[in-house]
Amino acid sequence: MNKLVVSLLLTLGVAGAATAAQPVMGDAAAGQAKTAVCGACHNPDGNSLAPNFPKLAGQGQRYLEKQLHDIKSGKRTVLEMTGMLAAFSDQDLADIAAYFASQKGSVGAADPALVERGRALFNGGDLDKGMPACTGCHSPNGAGIALAGFPHLSGQHAQYVSKQLTDFREGNRTNDGDAMTMRTIAGKLSNHDIEALASYIQGLH
Ligand code: HEC
Ligand code: HEC
Repeated sequence: MNKLVVSLLLTLGVAGAATAAQPVMGDAAAGQAKTAVCGACHNPDGNSLAPNFPKLAGQGQRYLEKQLHDIKSGKRTVLEMTGMLAAFSDQDLADIAAYFASQKGSVGAADPALVERGRALFNGGDLDKGMPACTGCHSPNGAGIALAGFPHLSGQHAQYVSKQLTDFREGNRTNDGDAMTMRTIAGKLSNHDIEALASYIQGLH
């Protein structure tokens, strides 16, 4: 792991988190049996076909588990999933996260007209605006850093990514922690920047 990433982990308090709480081990096979209701929107293997439903396949387990807890508790609002996680225990959520993390994620295509701007922002950030490159946390190929809970982005639907970046920017998604990492970054993005990044990410692999 490079120095930048290590210092980011420390800043975000991620390094100490594993020792603070006893992690619940997820069982992918047990998880699959609990995902029948999810398949209608996310597809049974987690490679959702509709562009507004996020792909879960190949997403990091730690990130998935955190989102499931956040959605269940209402810390992150997903109207389509209202009440759906209420009956699941912490063990169920860990199992479900392990199942989708074990699936292979599919990749889409980038819009050729947007790809250059998207790549430049993703890899280089925007010095004038003080915006860091996305690669520091989401890695150059968009794989993320699973152990740190930095999400895998590559191949994700552009429409979903664009909505998340807009939601972070407008303060409609606020579960990125006290450091407000993604809200701060998205606050520096124009609509065109968001469109270019989302398209680039959809084709990234
Ligand atoms: C009726 C459709 C629907 C169903 C059924 C559904 N979801 Fe979702 N889910 C969504 C939508 C829409 C979002 C994204 C909302 C947004 O734009 O922020 C989402 C987001 C998520 C996320 C966050 C993904 C990310 O990349 O941050 C996870 C994890 C998730 N769902 C898991 C599940 C699981 C597990 C089930 C089954 C127990 C389930 N969902 C059932 C529609 C659905
Ligand atoms: C300092 C680390 C860091 C940097 C730099 C960073 N991100 Fe993130 N990003 C995160 C973390 C951590 C999360 C997960 C927040 C949470 O737990 O909900 C996240 C979440 C996201 C999500 C939501 C994923 C999903 O499935 O819903 C998107 C999209 C995203 N980032 C895009 C970007 C883009 C584009 C850039 C560059 C312009 C960027 N990020 C730069 C740390 C970072």
